[in-house]
Amino acid sequence: MPKVLIATEKPFAAEAAAKIKAEFEAAKYDYKFLESYTDPSAFHEAVADVDALIIRSDKVTEEVLNAAKKLKIVVRAGAGYDNVDLKSATVHDVVVMNTPGQNSNAVAELAIGMMIYLTRGKFNGKSGGELAGKKLVLFGYGHIARLVARMAQGIGMEIFAYDPYISADIMTKDKVKPLTKIEDIFKTGDYVSLHIPANSETKKSINWDLLSLLPEGATLVNTARKEVIDEDGLLKAFAEKKGFRYVSDVAPDNLDKINEQFADRIFCTPKKMGAQTAEANVNAGIAAAKQIIGYLEKGDKTFKVN
Ligand code: 3PG
Repeated sequence: MPKVLIATEKPFAAEAAAKIKAEFEAAKYDYKFLESYTDPSAFHEAVADVDALIIRSDKVTEEVLNAAKKLKIVVRAGAGYDNVDLKSATVHDVVVMNTPGQNSNAVAELAIGMMIYLTRGKFNGKSGGELAGKKLVLFGYGHIARLVARMAQGIGMEIFAYDPYISADIMTKDKVKPLTKIEDIFKTGDYVSLHIPANSETKKSINWDLLSLLPEGATLVNTARKEVIDEDGLLKAFAEKKGFRYVSDVAPDNLDKINEQFADRIFCTPKKMGAQTAEANVNAGIAAAKQIIGYLEKGDKTFKVN
């Protein structure tokens, strides 16, 4: 009987955990949960005897993989897999998958929610602004960005997107105007929303050279990863660009410094919240469980990323 560990430092909603259990019970798999752990050694211990692993942003390092003697598959219940050492997983003969699209709606709603919240001055009782009629540029046009586009169209924004890996026809069909140069993202957007992964190419790539191009009063929206931001460039944008605003799912490391002078122009979630809805947890959790069963029973490698 295969054994699965569900290791979530940030636990799934109870409803999602119950549905994951039901999937494994129906498949006659053994399973255990390790939730809200604070010490990585608890993770190393728990992973020692399992064939499969479900994680969220939990770090799967070489150390974890060394400890996981029987491990065959890791499924990241979510989109980004920058928390998994893919090279080491491949060396250890462990398949890594994600569950693309399953939590996208939650993240898209957070992006729109944070845009409205800061544009309305965090509901401080004074006159704020509106999104309608403003230009929104999506940097990256994957699952989340497409949902943000649909929601923003409903609000009445004009939408643009840049994504060198996605055909312009897909954007045009969605009534989204394709951009062909990175610089144009920042020159065009009243709102620039980041939908890029964190990797060696993108880390610290959102720097002053790009932020300096933003129009006056523009807002940068980050539901991607804090690592893609060059934090010195971000601070400079606050200091030098009149009315520049930033909303982010997880604060930059220099938040205190930014808050000293620009607290009214920044909003960050205290803990990564993008996928923190029961619906997203259920969708991603069930998908992860099914992908594990599909791989172990039939060798189905759909969504393999290594
Ligand atoms: C993702 O990559 O899917 C999101 O960032 C969600 O991450 P989480 O599962 O840690 O909330």
